[in-house]
Amino acid sequence: MWLGIDIGTGGSRALLVNSVGEVVAAHTVAHEDILMHAPLWAEQRPENWWDAAVEAIRGVLGKSGVSGAEVRGIGLSGQMHGLVILDAENQVIRPSLIWCDQRSQAQVDWVNQKVGRARVLECIANPVLTGFTLPKLLWVRDHEPALYARVRKVLLPKDYVRFRLTGEFATEVSDASGTALFDVVNRRWSYDLADAVGVDRAFLPPCFESSEISGAITAEVAALTGLRAGTPVVGGGGDQAASAVGNGIVAPGIVSCTLGTSGVVFAHMEEVAYDPEGRVHTFCHAVKGKWHVMGVTQGAGLSLQWFRNQLAPGAEYDALMAEAALAPAGSQGLYWLPYLMGERTPHLDALARGGWIGLTAKHRRADLIRSLIEGVSYSQKDCLDIVESLGVGVASVRASGGGAKSPFWRQVLADVFAKPVVTLASQEGSALGAALLAMVGTGEYSGVPEVCAAVIREEARVESGADVAAYERGHKVYQALYPALKPLYGAM
Ligand code: XUL
Repeated sequence: MWLGIDIGTGGSRALLVNSVGEVVAAHTVAHEDILMHAPLWAEQRPENWWDAAVEAIRGVLGKSGVSGAEVRGIGLSGQMHGLVILDAENQVIRPSLIWCDQRSQAQVDWVNQKVGRARVLECIANPVLTGFTLPKLLWVRDHEPALYARVRKVLLPKDYVRFRLTGEFATEVSDASGTALFDVVNRRWSYDLADAVGVDRAFLPPCFESSEISGAITAEVAALTGLRAGTPVVGGGGDQAASAVGNGIVAPGIVSCTLGTSGVVFAHMEEVAYDPEGRVHTFCHAVKGKWHVMGVTQGAGLSLQWFRNQLAPGAEYDALMAEAALAPAGSQGLYWLPYLMGERTPHLDALARGGWIGLTAKHRRADLIRSLIEGVSYSQKDCLDIVESLGVGVASVRASGGGAKSPFWRQVLADVFAKPVVTLASQEGSALGAALLAMVGTGEYSGVPEVCAAVIREEARVESGADVAAYERGHKVYQALYPALKPLYGAM
């Protein structure tokens, strides 16, 4: 048995797979609500992730009847980019500024000015963005100098959980790629950039390949969780790279669309390639010696979650989807801009604001919901178009994540993409990918492509249908809305 643990945004999930990669059991524990002290700020407590992870591990062992002694290896996956800072006593100094926090534009501008955009690109193969870890750390340096003075280690969310599990400070290449301090081409920290911006090299933990063993479960954690002391923990992956492993996106030509809180279009790359405008990220893959490219919609599932929390409290997502299906394609000319936490691909704009455009008195709630699904899908289409423009062939798209559980949303995606949308026998994504990386790291399979070939099966396929032309027209209107509104965002 192997265990995958995913530290997501909404919750932590632990999942057990057997030696043929079948999911035996899984258990999720919800996190506390995201702390939003100001618009576009987002924080979570790392200690809450740890408590949730412990409960998830105990839950999955309890549910399955599998004993800790049967677990041969553990893989971690987690929300990317979040800033966890520890002091000399290894205590968390402040809540984590997480991936969607957008407060650090001034720090991004400072890095660009101090180091130069071209040099930044040479160092890390990407532009620095507000979503990434470095500007968040610099925000703490600028605004909370007393806290910054106590920093001894900088960790990513899953790597904080790794530290609690194993006592080791470590990360791996796929998640490190999203810090803006990582030399993605050479798969090692960019000490050049760290030195140029004055970040102490000692803050950065050792970095492994995703399937390498990074440490082992401590005796204290064994007593707490039921795991066996000494069980190896492999590097794992940032949630998107791990999800790509769980979806078999480990060879050229297969592309995924993962609709979680964020929405991500992801493609494998044999060689490093960049979008010259930096609208998609080029990061190390969890496959040894390979890379990937991804485009990110900040507010994908988040759009629907926000709608439910604010406007339909208590409603089930399935019921909201059924309601959306009552509205016609195009939502009677209503458009949703999913910029609830600014936007990454294609706009790279921390100040972008979301909203509906095109409301009339005729619109019903069904149109509002359908327009959310359509707006997020248009944004994902923008991501897909840029990925294709880098020369990635896309015959079909593998959909996963909470949003892809809805057949209705999958059909909208197929129509907006004008491509078949495929789902897999297992829709587990990140936690499964983490477990598969553990299988490779403990020698059960020789490599990531090998385990994926053995384990991952396509199950269902939705062809694009009658609404392709309507969505092609709608996408053009959607694309015209951002430039029209952009001059106003600063004033908002
Ligand atoms: C990827 C990203 C998100 C988070 C949360 O760049 O920011 O996908 O990892 O899922």
